[in-house]
Amino acid sequence: MTVTSEATAEPLTAAPALAAVEVTKGFPHRRRGFQRVLGETSFSIREGEFVTIIGPSGSGKSTLLKLLAGLEAPDSGRVELAGEPVTAPSRRLGVVFQQHVLLPWLTAKQNVLFALEAHGGSDRSASERERLAEHWLELVQLSDAKDLKPGQLSGGMQQRVGIARAFALESEVLLMDEPLGALDALTRHTLQLQLLKLSEQEKRTFVLVTHDVDEALLLSDRILVLSQGPEAAVLKDVKVPFPRPRDRDAVESSSDYLALRRELLGLLTSGS
Ligand SMILES: Nc1ncnc2c1ncn2[C@@H]1O[C@H](COP(=O)(O)OP(=O)(O)OP(=O)(O)O)[C@@H](O)[C@H]1O
Ligand SMILES: [Mg+2]
Repeated sequence: MTVTSEATAEPLTAAPALAAVEVTKGFPHRRRGFQRVLGETSFSIREGEFVTIIGPSGSGKSTLLKLLAGLEAPDSGRVELAGEPVTAPSRRLGVVFQQHVLLPWLTAKQNVLFALEAHGGSDRSASERERLAEHWLELVQLSDAKDLKPGQLSGGMQQRVGIARAFALESEVLLMDEPLGALDALTRHTLQLQLLKLSEQEKRTFVLVTHDVDEALLLSDRILVLSQGPEAAVLKDVKVPFPRPRDRDAVESSSDYLALRRELLGLLTSGS
């Protein structure tokens, strides 16, 4: 069977949830004066899709995610959210970074509540915000630790507070930059399964940046492989065919798994 498809394989019936349209981005460079990090890059993401961006270190994945989040402006081209240009951060676009930057003087629950209050808290009553915070902390299995402060939580628990906080904001699109980075293999494994479950329960659009090909194959509907920069672009748009709901055993024992994994690793190393 064909395991890959190009970006244009399936026609879009409505405006995509999120689109990059011929975006480019560069930064001042010490020797060259200016360095274009992203060459002209275009892709679109459908509503409800889980898309992962992988690529060599320094290729521009975080830069691309910041453009999608409206945290940085492209030098040319545009980002569109449901057909509307993205020119600034928006409540409709949630972001999870590798460093969750929890407020150290607040408990896990207060950190989630603080974010809910900051993001249009007046839309919800205090008791509703409480209920949401408790709900999401329970889903990441932190109910027992909700009253502990970040300094009293392990690294993995802090990551889970960050994930609960991002999900609690209920944005249409959730953009995640290495949300499980810097964790030991076992904790990462467990959190990948939690993220899989949460993303399959939630009708939302997800964009994940990761270095981990197995994580990408477990979680994604589609994987965009960025080429080695400078002037990185989407080298390949790979469809991940595994049926949902997924579990790791079923995915990893699928006949396509090894071929896809090999293809992605090959693209990451030879796509420079
Ligand atoms: N604000 C900035 N000013 C100057 N250069 C920048 C800036 N942000 C990113 N860059 C450069 O852009 C390139 C891409 O960086 P980016 O962080 O997007 O890469 P990445 O693919 O996320 O890498 P990693 O996998 O290591 O996280 C790098 O060469 C980096 O030095
Ligand atoms: Mg990065």
